Amino acid sequence: MSPKRGLFFAVNAGRTSLKQDLWERHFVADQKASTSIEAVESGLAAQGYIASRQIATAVYLSQQIEKPILVEGPAGVGKTELAKAIAAWRGMKMIRLQCYEGLDEAKALYEWKYAKQLLYTQILKDKLGEVLGGAQTLHAALDQLHDFGDVFFSKEFVEPRPLLQALEQPGGCVLLIDEIDKSDAEFESLLLEILSDFQVTIPELGTVSAITPPTVILTSNSERDLGDALKRRCLHLHIGFPEQRLEERIVESRVPGISQALRRQMVGFIHEIRSLDLKKLPSVSETIDWARVLVLLQASELDTDIVKDTLNVLLKYEADIQAAAPQVTTFIAKAARSNVFG
Ligand SMILES: Nc1ncnc2c1ncn2[C@@H]1O[C@H](COP(=O)(O)OP(=O)(O)O)[C@@H](O)[C@H]1O
Ligand SMILES: [Mg+2]
Repeated sequence: MSPKRGLFFAVNAGRTSLKQDLWERHFVADQKASTSIEAVESGLAAQGYIASRQIATAVYLSQQIEKPILVEGPAGVGKTELAKAIAAWRGMKMIRLQCYEGLDEAKALYEWKYAKQLLYTQILKDKLGEVLGGAQTLHAALDQLHDFGDVFFSKEFVEPRPLLQALEQPGGCVLLIDEIDKSDAEFESLLLEILSDFQVTIPELGTVSAITPPTVILTSNSERDLGDALKRRCLHLHIGFPEQRLEERIVESRVPGISQALRRQMVGFIHEIRSLDLKKLPSVSETIDWARVLVLLQASELDTDIVKDTLNVLLKYEADIQAAAPQVTTFIAKAARSNVFG
């Protein structure tokens, strides 16, 4: 081989191994990530929570990059349950902050233990008398009192509320900030520091940082638009109504007593119902309730009578029941057909 050709082969061989190396690194990293996404899927499934690939990926990524997840979607699709399942799977405590209109710092973050402060001032009355005894004027007494005021605004007199409790868990925890859209828009600003830096600042005490950063899940039913600052700090996850096979697996997990045939039929029926223009479409929670009811009534398959008698489990408004009732027979037939071809 000429020296020129030899060089060509060497360079080419080098290029191949570099390419291979890159490819392998990429492939192995990819494999690792997907194995871990699968680990999330199976970890949650062991707790009875059947996650779509999209949900499992969001949970995996939020753990890797330590970012909260903001879960949005209609009521009853498993947003709150996701936080509970993560906590159970990882053997962590779950701390829940249920949001509502008027929720403030004192209920969410911390409060001063006023009763304890009062009690201590009573007990220490004599001591205070001694300390202030030397003061000649009211001003001088006040000045001295200010110096002692800090004693009553120290850690011992702080009543931690859910957000502070979450930062103080030595082994970490899952912090669920549930239905954030129910709180006032101003409340969001209280969360910004905790969401980005896992810390809060208490004017009298300074900054309290998380011992172990909590896994934070925020949920919203989208009753109002959330601020950009809050959204920017979170991974966004939308959970909608599940596709049919996934919903069947959810029913299988939650209502093991139901036959596969009935499960398919009932989920197929619900998917037909969801195509109607109703005030409130049935969610996963209604699917699970209906499955339980059908098992209780010992139904082996859907028929018009049993569906009409139990429509109130699926639909929560009389107008919706009236709108769906005439379609029941057609929907049962459609669900049966999609079963055969599905
Ligand atoms: N993917 C799922 N796997 C298992 N159960 C689920 C799933 N999604 C919803 N559920 C069940 O549906 C019900 C409603 O879920 P929930 O988390 O309260 O809804 P949301 O918070 O979205 O209103 C719960 O009983 C929950 O266990
Ligand atoms: Mg909820």
